[in-house]
Amino acid sequence: MARTKGGLTVTNPTNPTPDHDSTAPATREHGAAPALTDRFENPGLPPHVPRRADDDPKAARRAEMQVVGLFTISALASIAFVVAYFAIDPDLKGYLLGIGEVNLYHVALGVTMGLSLLCIGLGAIHWAKTLMPDEEVVEERHPQASDDDDRLAVGRQLSHGWRSSQLNRRAAILGSAGGALGLFALPLVLPVVAGLGPRPGRGLYTTNWEEGTRLMIDPSGAAIRAADVTQGSVFHVMPDGWVGHAAVEEHGAEEAMLAKAKDQVILVRLDPEIIQSQKQRDWGYEGIVAYSKVCTHVGCPVALYEQQTHHLLCPCHQSTFDMTDDCKVIFGPAKRPLPQLPITVDGEGYIVAAGAFREPIGPSFWERNRPGLLGVDET
Ligand code: FES
Repeated sequence: MARTKGGLTVTNPTNPTPDHDSTAPATREHGAAPALTDRFENPGLPPHVPRRADDDPKAARRAEMQVVGLFTISALASIAFVVAYFAIDPDLKGYLLGIGEVNLYHVALGVTMGLSLLCIGLGAIHWAKTLMPDEEVVEERHPQASDDDDRLAVGRQLSHGWRSSQLNRRAAILGSAGGALGLFALPLVLPVVAGLGPRPGRGLYTTNWEEGTRLMIDPSGAAIRAADVTQGSVFHVMPDGWVGHAAVEEHGAEEAMLAKAKDQVILVRLDPEIIQSQKQRDWGYEGIVAYSKVCTHVGCPVALYEQQTHHLLCPCHQSTFDMTDDCKVIFGPAKRPLPQLPITVDGEGYIVAAGAFREPIGPSFWERNRPGLLGVDET
């Protein structure tokens, strides 16, 4: 049964064969859902509001000059980038107010490239907003798919092209062309891969930890008495002599930064009862254990300690290490436990390293397990 409501034909769903309704649109089938364009009035486009530059030639000229000015500044900044790239010593250091010591070469490249991009963006936006046509237009969509005849014709043409190229009969050409095109990627990829920077070499085998080095709280630089470390407490520590500004003044900014990257250690006191491995107990002191904070995935600082679960979390890719079980990986992309720093106490009761790390810290790398390179303890 069909009835008319609000100008539309409504069909009783229990009766799929509606009565004939002469008021229904000729293009709509009886029972079909009304199209959106039938149900809602097209609000149309808002009236076009001319901009100043549309009506005033002087305003248009002014806008044009502003756009030209922005593009010109961009071009000058690009030239300045090239000049800076070749003219400035890459190791040139200087002080910037509020930042401290910086590499002026990097600052110059960053500022000139940033200015160049910024002015291109601003120029394009200003051009579009003031001078480009801004009348709203509607482009009606048409069916996207080609009809069957066209698709058949394209298929025939492709098939004809494949046969006439004779590649199906000349396998040598096909193979050599494939090889040439495949290897063509090498000149593009090689400079990127080869330019990734120096290989780590023995850099991750050595840190500033050695027997007798006190563990100092970072950044205060205070030594830690074992008696003051309560169960569940956490300390971020660095080797004595490598903490904060004192390290920069004594060793220089570069060495201090390198130490900060490699020597950072987390110290936690656990209940000795929950420590699962004898080695972990032996390398700790009455439940106090110390581990490298450099993630064995790609080197982020693992600094989030969950006191209830005794898990250490890496914020970068969520690798999770179990502190009660040799800091083994229990979740995430890291593949190796965090290296443990053996510790003990000195004559005054302060916590000190009982030796260096016994394995390279940080991420895996190609030579890591090559026999003979691990000059410390290969176990
Ligand atoms: S760097 Fe730690 S999980 Fe990726």
